[in-house]
Amino acid sequence: MTTQIEIEVEDRKTPFELDWERQRWRSLEEQKESDFPLITVVDGKRYELYSDETFAEVEKSERAIIPPSKPCAQRRYDTISQELICTARTLFANDKGLLAMDESNHTCNKRFAWLGIPQTEEARRAYRELIVTTPSLGDCISGVILYDETIRQKKSNGTPFVKVITDSGIIPGIKVDTGAKKMAGYPGEKITEGLDGLRDRLKEYFEMGARFAKWRAVIAVGDGIPSQGCMEANAQALARYAALCQEAGMVPVVEPEVLMEGEHTLDRCREVTEEVLRTVFDRLYKQRVMLEGMILKPNMVLPGLTCPKQETVDEVADATVQCLLRAVPAAVPGIAFLSGGQSGELASARLNAMNVRFKSRLPWALAFSFARAIQQPALEIWRGEDANLLQAQQALYHRARCNRAARRGTYDTAMETNGSESPPRS
Ligand code: 13P
Repeated sequence: MTTQIEIEVEDRKTPFELDWERQRWRSLEEQKESDFPLITVVDGKRYELYSDETFAEVEKSERAIIPPSKPCAQRRYDTISQELICTARTLFANDKGLLAMDESNHTCNKRFAWLGIPQTEEARRAYRELIVTTPSLGDCISGVILYDETIRQKKSNGTPFVKVITDSGIIPGIKVDTGAKKMAGYPGEKITEGLDGLRDRLKEYFEMGARFAKWRAVIAVGDGIPSQGCMEANAQALARYAALCQEAGMVPVVEPEVLMEGEHTLDRCREVTEEVLRTVFDRLYKQRVMLEGMILKPNMVLPGLTCPKQETVDEVADATVQCLLRAVPAAVPGIAFLSGGQSGELASARLNAMNVRFKSRLPWALAFSFARAIQQPALEIWRGEDANLLQAQQALYHRARCNRAARRGTYDTAMETNGSESPPRS
């Protein structure tokens, strides 16, 4: 007989709009005794999550419930797997995407210094409050990536940021690497650190409300680089991080970034990106990472910033999708690009072109996980002045909305001139 775990979800339209915060899971002990499928109730209808990770409405479905007869030890893992799959799918639902606001204090201060904003904890807090209180941000953004300082911060009225975020229907995530450092023996290359103590840090972040995490590896392109040693060391660290995240019930965002700095051509970027991704997925496989419960955050395939030949938006879209099709397994639910220093408009246009040209033929969703390409206009308007707050929030919402359109393949540069409308106030 199949026992079912019930999740109650109020007032949601689709199963993929699961408001994870309001899910009321039964205790782990009960879950351990339970089997597939998970049942979710939405608008009075019951949906089942099948073991092939699709939802189906129970009343209309002709599909058989898969009766699991798995050993007890496996069941707890299955429950975690289902939560991971559910979180990953929710992050890609309804054409939304991720907003990275996980700049380290050092990076945030550098950006503030450039605009003459004081480099203090209070200024960083005020700026992050501006972001998380942007009205209707949850219309376009499914998850935000926080930094260790930020996940502990509060609004000026004392409300924790994590509560503000979840009340907006957005899932909090957390950057957990401790930065890219010079790699010993490999001049000009970097290795990302942060594995020591990661299991305990993940536990703490989970208790604070984070349901996904991020780790960024950086790969420079130049004469004789990247080296095999650098690619392998970074891929191994990404895979160890991803395995620990899944153990902790958090979806790992796996971010191998091939940098734009340099004179290299688009073809060279495609070649390096493919090699890096193949290495990463080999290590993910060896570390037993469940691909259905992770997110890939790669660079787009672009010519180097100082390369004389800069390809068109469509050429970039074609090269990027071709590279991803060669290297990313179909089991991965979605790909959320970093922006890497592209302008907000170009990042939206290129993501849009990929979805216009390929969306119906791709095994994974193509979405965004931008920091600068969403935040930069807002930061430049705000400049640390309260008086600029509403206009800065409008600019932030505008970029988020353009990227939601890019996911749908309906972004148009005309949105940039007509697009400074106020976000709807909820
Ligand atoms: P950018 O979109 O500014 O590249 O940042 C994304 C990110 O998360 C970098 O780790």
